[in-house]
Amino acid sequence: MCGIIAYNGSDNAVPYLVDGIKNLEYRGYDSAGCVLLDGSGNLLIRKSEGKVGDVIKNYAIDKYTSPKGIFHTRWATRGEVNTRNAHPISDCTGKIAVAHNGIIENYDEIKNSLSDHKFTTDTDTEIIAHFLEDRMNGGLTMKDAVAELAHEMKGYSSFVAIDRDSDDIVALKNGSPLVVGLASNGTFVASDVPSFIKYTNRVVYLFDGDVVSIGKSGYRIDNLSDSDKKHEVKTVKIKYDESTKGDFPHFMLKEIMEQPAVVGRIEESGIESIERAAELVKASGRVYLIGAGTSFNACMIAANLFRSLGMDATAIEGQNISNYAGVISDKDLFILISQSGETMDVIQALDLIKANKKIGILNVEGSTLSNSVDVVVYIGAGHENAVAATKTFTASVVYAMLIGMYAAGKVEEARNDLGLLKLALYNTLVPSVIGAVDATASLIKDKVNLFYLGRGADYVTALEGALKMKEVSYIHAEGIDSSTFKHGPLALISKDIYSIALVSDADRDAVMHNLSEIKARGGRIIGISNHNSELFDFYLKSQPAGIFDFVPKVVISQLLAYKVSVLKGINPDRPRNLAKAVTVK
Ligand code: F6R
Repeated sequence: MCGIIAYNGSDNAVPYLVDGIKNLEYRGYDSAGCVLLDGSGNLLIRKSEGKVGDVIKNYAIDKYTSPKGIFHTRWATRGEVNTRNAHPISDCTGKIAVAHNGIIENYDEIKNSLSDHKFTTDTDTEIIAHFLEDRMNGGLTMKDAVAELAHEMKGYSSFVAIDRDSDDIVALKNGSPLVVGLASNGTFVASDVPSFIKYTNRVVYLFDGDVVSIGKSGYRIDNLSDSDKKHEVKTVKIKYDESTKGDFPHFMLKEIMEQPAVVGRIEESGIESIERAAELVKASGRVYLIGAGTSFNACMIAANLFRSLGMDATAIEGQNISNYAGVISDKDLFILISQSGETMDVIQALDLIKANKKIGILNVEGSTLSNSVDVVVYIGAGHENAVAATKTFTASVVYAMLIGMYAAGKVEEARNDLGLLKLALYNTLVPSVIGAVDATASLIKDKVNLFYLGRGADYVTALEGALKMKEVSYIHAEGIDSSTFKHGPLALISKDIYSIALVSDADRDAVMHNLSEIKARGGRIIGISNHNSELFDFYLKSQPAGIFDFVPKVVISQLLAYKVSVLKGINPDRPRNLAKAVTVK
């Protein structure tokens, strides 16, 4: 979703903004633009649909010097993708410009109250610029105008505003992410830490309702609902090289290959947070696991495990929580799984579960969800740059399952299987398997449809494999329980239709039976399994990993999706229409 970086300080802002916005490209966007000050102190807006690199090149942005500025990437919500609707967006006079992330739900109402203003875009963002103009013409400072707007606006929206005649850049954090970075020569306010990590690792995480003013030599934060809110300066551990591809051609490949190390880190440093979370599970009634997309798949797998351990557990997609309103009791525990900690479908669930204890299984420190839960379990996967979740899926699902195992007193078995998993991942990502994945990718790259089949935990693995393939290759891929296949989807099988079967030892006989029904009708089978079978036309070897047996299979499907994407000439890191953090409903 939208990315914002603003800088105000003693240096030329342009190199920081250019570098910062490139590091925000991973979030997904369709247009980009910046606002700078020209030599006479007037606002200069340069924007267009398309890539950040093109905006920088076409407008020769790096030739400018400006004491402060904002750069933005837009992921369209209201108003089609075009240059006019790209941000920053200005008021009637071009004195104020705004870059925004979120949706203003009462847009019409506020727009109607600004009827004497001339609107030139189709965005909801534009009301911010005109509202600020209106109130500042009435004598308010920009900060006070932002505070008044914050009270009037409905929905989740964060924005950054610049005024030609004010020294400070002012931002509001409300729902969508914003964080402050404190460098020796200036201050940043941005959508995430990696965008400015090259320049500083001193950050202030913001809370909803924070109005931030960043000046040449400092900053001020006022929370609109709690004037005593503490804003600590933290030193973050993210390293600059986590934001780079290193020797890999794409972030997605780098992140897939990092998975053995990510699992290794759980053993080294994650156990204490697992123990704290497990105590909460033991003290609670029913357990609900909430997530979206890949994180919801992690929820489903963990919920299966919790139930197998005798705990009453249900996985829910965040946006569907209201379907459960009648049965949720105060003793129930909620485990929220979210890489970004900013997914609106998950955040919106919080309204209904204010009274309940909550655990967050998160990757991004200081994210909105981290401020809304009782116990935070950071998965420590490191910055995930590619849009498709890979290493964070593995880390999230493993953490969630370990919490269940610890709560059930199965500590030794859990630790043993964690060790097995680390080994299994090292042995899965070896040249022989990677070569077989390459050959398989060539076979399927031109297919229009693919099926992913599995049972038990591998049913969800099939959903996850299919999701990854859809995202990065644009092939229609469907995950189905292999037993369900005969109840309808089997009609789609004919010669040369490929199904990817994820077969664990536990369900092997049943799945093989289903696969033979496909083979009998001329279908072709790619097997991802710990053992080969005569039913497989092509075989990708996974490794056993105890309760985590499905994980190496997921990793192979991630690799397959990646390879197909590359063969098709798609950039797997930036699939069309998708965003890394989905901060709208
Ligand atoms: C798929 C993917 C998405 C995310 C989903 C939730 O590869 O990345 O489906 O899993 O948008 O994101 P988080 O985990 O940040 O809540």
